[in-house]
Amino acid sequence: MPLLVTTIGELRERLGEARRAGKTIGLVPTMGALHEGHLSLVRASRGECGFTVVTIYVNPSQFGPQEDFSQYPRTLDRDIDLLSGQADVVFAPRDDEVYPPGYSTWVEVGSVAQPLEGLCRPGHFRGVATIVLKLFTMTWPDVAYFGQKDYQQALVVRRVATDLNLPLSIRVCPIVREADGLAMSSRNRYLDPDERRRAAALFQSLTQAADMVARGETSATRIVEAMRQTLQAADPAQIDYIAIADPETLEPVQTIRGRAVALLAVRIGKTRLIDNMILEPP
Ligand code: PAJ
Repeated sequence: MPLLVTTIGELRERLGEARRAGKTIGLVPTMGALHEGHLSLVRASRGECGFTVVTIYVNPSQFGPQEDFSQYPRTLDRDIDLLSGQADVVFAPRDDEVYPPGYSTWVEVGSVAQPLEGLCRPGHFRGVATIVLKLFTMTWPDVAYFGQKDYQQALVVRRVATDLNLPLSIRVCPIVREADGLAMSSRNRYLDPDERRRAAALFQSLTQAADMVARGETSATRIVEAMRQTLQAADPAQIDYIAIADPETLEPVQTIRGRAVALLAVRIGKTRLIDNMILEPP
């Protein structure tokens, strides 16, 4: 079983011991309700680092007032079981230690945090960048692991690490999917069986985009239109966005001449799902 640690002081003691033993530190930040996507990051850390810390913290500052903070699944005992033999420490801090009374220091990331999720979820990336920097300074890992599932988040985190000259490496790991292609997510458990079946349309529309680009289609407008039709078949409550963008800057791409990324955010019933796929021209 991994050791459950709930205070920053104890975390630093355990990390000090690991460092004195010559081990490199891998950090996997999560909000818990763990699934194979999270566990793939933990395995990547185990493969590369001598000591793996998984953080489980549902960060209130990255949720909007109308979002699912209070309903977000909290399954700490099961998460610890899943990490057995995988993680060395599970760090699950308390809100009042992470955000002490009077808390007022925030990390604001510029252009890469502005479009897409930045427009749909104002303040979200401020909350993400702040908690991730705080987890970095609590842990000072050698390597930190993130998933491509949250494509824009990974770019935001890379920006923070570069801009603040943080002495660590960021690894971004591939998206782990269900058999029908749906990207694994803690939020998938909100879907009822009918919604779950319809949710496969996200992956179908992304593979359609990748196929079109691989066969030589260069018009982002035509690709987005085809994706929209595929998504409509799933009777979504709302399509927040479908975008084709530069994979580094997230600036919109009109004519696809090099690598690009397709990103989407769709509401199936009350559940908001995001996914993305890299597009490679022939
Ligand atoms: P959470 O949604 O729990 O995700 C934790 C990490 O797991 C993120 O880096 C995410 O991209 C990755 N992940 C989730 N689903 C994945 C999948 N299907 N395949 C591969 N990786 C996947 O993202 C967050 O938490 C939070 O914003 C956090 C970074 C912890 C800050 O609070």
